[in-house]
Amino acid sequence: MSRTDRMPRNRTYLMCPPDHFAVEYAINPWMDTAAAVDAALALRQWHLLRETLTGLGHAVHVLDPQPGLPDMVYAANGAFSVDGVVYGARFRYPQRAAEAAAHQLFYAGGRWRYEGAVHINEGEGDFAYLPGAYGGLILAGHGFRTDPAAHVEAQEVLGRPVVSLWLVDPAFYHLDTALAALDDRNVTYYPDAFSGASQQVLRQLFPDAVLADRGDAEAFGLNLVSDGRHVVLNADAIGMADKVRAAGYVPIHVELSELKRGGGSVKCAVAELRP
Ligand code: ARG
Repeated sequence: MSRTDRMPRNRTYLMCPPDHFAVEYAINPWMDTAAAVDAALALRQWHLLRETLTGLGHAVHVLDPQPGLPDMVYAANGAFSVDGVVYGARFRYPQRAAEAAAHQLFYAGGRWRYEGAVHINEGEGDFAYLPGAYGGLILAGHGFRTDPAAHVEAQEVLGRPVVSLWLVDPAFYHLDTALAALDDRNVTYYPDAFSGASQQVLRQLFPDAVLADRGDAEAFGLNLVSDGRHVVLNADAIGMADKVRAAGYVPIHVELSELKRGGGSVKCAVAELRP
């Protein structure tokens, strides 16, 4: 595929400002409750991320942050929507449980069909959608947060094939820390974050994938948001930017040092809405 084929598609996103962001508990290996977060800096960085996305022509809806929910800034975890249908989240840890209802309320205000989940799943943290791959394919991670039963449930709710991938490295506890959609049909991923068999599945489905290495993943380089051409990613992820550039995409760096302290970056903070 040549560079000229990397066409952007207008997107609609949902974000939640880090008004109450803090690292008050540790539910992933990146979180250190002893290290202080710079709340004002977190807010400035979040606004720059939002402006980067709107500057690219995308629509960004904003969810009201709630006190007592310090991880609400990671808006990707609240739900997963495909073609107007929303599969609601059900969080693994009680500290985040109430976020699901806040997201549900957002969708109640629009023309969505919202389906609550029986099984534990953390929304777009563990689900990715490739509308142009195999007629519309969902990739789903399990191993740390989302239950495999939720993959089956998502397939029944959303009516798209769901491919289960087993995450095996606790540093990459959500699918979106280890794999990202670059456009409607192609992905980038860090192979060693997945079981050997899941790596084989990914090789079979995505022979043209951009392969990342451990350094890319640790710099949260896979936790990216792409519109099919512009790839918005963490400023530390220099190697990853080179790799997506070599594949014909346009990397755009954003500084998100504070969100990284909670174990997330660009993608965690941005849910894509697919009406
Ligand atoms: N502190 C949050 C948690 O552990 C970070 C969530 C990151 N979100 C993501 N989509 N990977 O749940």
